[in-house]
This record gives sequence, C-alpha cells and structure tokens, in this order.
Amino acid sequence: MKISKKAQSIPSSMTLEISAKVKQLKSEGKSIIGFTAGEPNFNTPDYIIDSAKEALDKGITKYTPVSGMPELKQAIVEKFKRDNGLEYEPSQIVVSDGAKSSLFHAIYCLVDEGDEVIIPAPFWFTYEEQVKICGGKPVIVQTKAENGYKITPSELESAITDKTVAILINSPSNPTGALYSEEELKALAVVIEKYDLAVISDEIYEKLVYDGAKHVSIATVSPYMKENTIVVNGVSKTYAMTGWRVGYLAAPKALAGAINRVQGHTTSNACSFAQYASVTALNGGEDIIESMRNDFDMRRKCMCSLLDEMGIDYVKPQGAFYLFMDISRFIGKSFEGKVIDGSMAFASILTENGVALIPGLPFHADNFVRVSYAVSVEDIKEGFQRIKAFIEKLN
Ligand SMILES: Cc1ncc(COP(=O)(O)O)c(C=O)c1O
Repeated sequence: MKISKKAQSIPSSMTLEISAKVKQLKSEGKSIIGFTAGEPNFNTPDYIIDSAKEALDKGITKYTPVSGMPELKQAIVEKFKRDNGLEYEPSQIVVSDGAKSSLFHAIYCLVDEGDEVIIPAPFWFTYEEQVKICGGKPVIVQTKAENGYKITPSELESAITDKTVAILINSPSNPTGALYSEEELKALAVVIEKYDLAVISDEIYEKLVYDGAKHVSIATVSPYMKENTIVVNGVSKTYAMTGWRVGYLAAPKALAGAINRVQGHTTSNACSFAQYASVTALNGGEDIIESMRNDFDMRRKCMCSLLDEMGIDYVKPQGAFYLFMDISRFIGKSFEGKVIDGSMAFASILTENGVALIPGLPFHADNFVRVSYAVSVEDIKEGFQRIKAFIEKLN
C-alpha cells in the first residue's frame, strides 16, 4: 500500500527508539536505570481519580462540546486569572486531548504553506515536526550557553523574514529547564510587536519552577502580547495526569473559533470523564502540587550535586524536570573500542551499560544528553554511579 510523501517525510521519534532498546535489554534480564521519563513518576492524586469515578457513575460518558465542557472552560478561565493574571472569556478557550494536540491545532490555524515559525534551540522536537506537517518552515535559532539557552531580542530579529508568522516559546523549557524572566519576555515582545508576529507559548511546566523563580506568561507583558499569544497548557505534568489526555489553549476569539472548527474535524472533544476530573484538578490540590514540586526539587539538587562531584558540566535547570548534561568532552572518545561520535552513540552505549537517557541530537543539541529527574533518589544515586563508572572507562 502507498504511504503518502507527507508521512514519509516525518522521522520516527528517536526517544521511542531508545525506549524500545531499554525494553529489549530489560526483557533479556539486564538491569537498566531509566532517566528517559517525560512524565511525573507519581500516581494521579486520589481526589482526581475519585472525581473521574464519580463522572462515570453519573453517566458522563457522552460527547461534550468540541471546545470542552462549559464547567471545565470556566475552571480554565479562573485558573488563567488566578495563576497568570490573564483575563479570557470562555469562548477564547479550547480544550483538547493534550497540550500536544493544542499545539498542533494552533500551528495549523496560524501557518500557511511556506510560512516560517521561529523555534529557539534546544527545543522539544515535536514543534519542528508539527510545523512541517502544517506546511510551514521551522526556522531554528541556536541559543547560547551565556544567555542560559534563551533566545535574545537580537537573535530573534536576525531570524525574522517577510515569511515569519510566529515564534514558539517554551518556558520552563524541555529539555534545558530554562525559564524566561519578565524582563527577558518584555524585551522579546518589543521585537515581536515591531514585526507583527504571533507567539505560541507552551507553558505546560509552569508550576514546576525552583529556587524561588517565578513563571511569567509572555501574554501578560503587553496589550499586544495578550492579543497575539496563544497560551498552551494542560493537566499532564502539573497533576501527574499524562495518560488522561487533557490539554487546553487560550487564544484571541477569531483564532480560538478557527481552532474549534478544525478540531471538530480531527480529534473532536477530549475524553468526557477526564474533562470532568480536570475541573476537580484545576480547582484544588495546591498542597499536592507543592509536595510533588518539592520532591522534584530535591531530586534536581541531588543530581546537580552528583554532577558537581563528578566534574561534569550541565545547564542548571530552573524549571520542568529535566537536566541537560554537557557531554562535549566525551565526544571523540571510545568505550571498549566503540567510538562516541555524538549524543546518539553516547546514549546507545550507555544504555548497554545500564543507564538510559535521551540523546541531545533530536533537541538540536548534539553535545548534550537529557536526564529526567522524574525518578526516585535511589535510582538517581545508582544511575549516576553507573555513569561515573562508564565515563572512567572512556579513552
Ligand atoms: C514542552 C512540552 N509541551 C507539551 C507536551 C505535551 O503535553 P501533553 O501530555 O499535554 O500532550 C510535552 C510532553 O512531553 C512537553 O514536554
């Protein structure tokens, strides 16, 4: 059977390849410590699970409006006001089956064939593929270590052409954990307004910030930004609800209407009882979120101090649950005759030696690997012991 050229142009996910390798090695009885997780290793809090059960008992098992149940849209409006100081009407909110889906629909409704979307690197690889699927051209801008891996106004301005329609901002970032300050966002907003661009702001990790840092949405920094930002968020990471598939976005009314129309022909409404439980999630549980955040913070600090002891450089994460480890000084070395020519080889050989992590290449950062701290402290200690032993054997 024929496979479309469009589908053939989309590469398979490199992270899935690593996951498959981990599975295979585990099935052969090998002990592997996995630092690949892109999701909290906590169970969904009981109060949310109970709410989903209640929804099922009440028969909330039918279609809902495409853009979401009115109760959930109201809870999202209140969340934006409470947490971000952003005022929206329910008609500006579109609930979806995950932030990934919201991102896709936002890009689809913004981008025409050949339009350019600026993506600061390192970035979460899905952005690039979604822009391509929508017929757009991803314009990758490499950010610098000295700027904390955040795009600067002058880097942004140099990447803009007459085809640019939008920039993607992900703060806190997957994979670096970088967090943009209000001042940094204001400075970017000046350039964005000058060229009349839109912003897609992926704020899925907003609640996971550390060291007293504060997450700020770029939509709040000026009236222009409020009118020209699509804020994407969801319950996956904050409430340990990755499998429930509920995301959402807020957008200017006309765009939200377009997204609603398109979504009506693609994924339609998100799961009804997951939406019901998301109302409960968004309206409570601050103490539970805080306790998960504290756990992540403890693990983050544990990883940072182990890397400091080992003398390995990394980007100090201010948010999310990933640490970006610098492997540049190991590139060109060999392990038992196998040459490490980049992050793919580093990750692959290390997996065979008991530790799985994600290579930096798909994030456009081949000198790095991503280590997730959504794992137990015991695993962090054991895993880093193994990494140390591995590195000592390189020559
Ligand atoms: C930066 C970023 N945005 C969005 C998502 C997707 O979230 P969801 O589970 O709501 O689709 C992820 C998941 O890994 C992510 O890392």
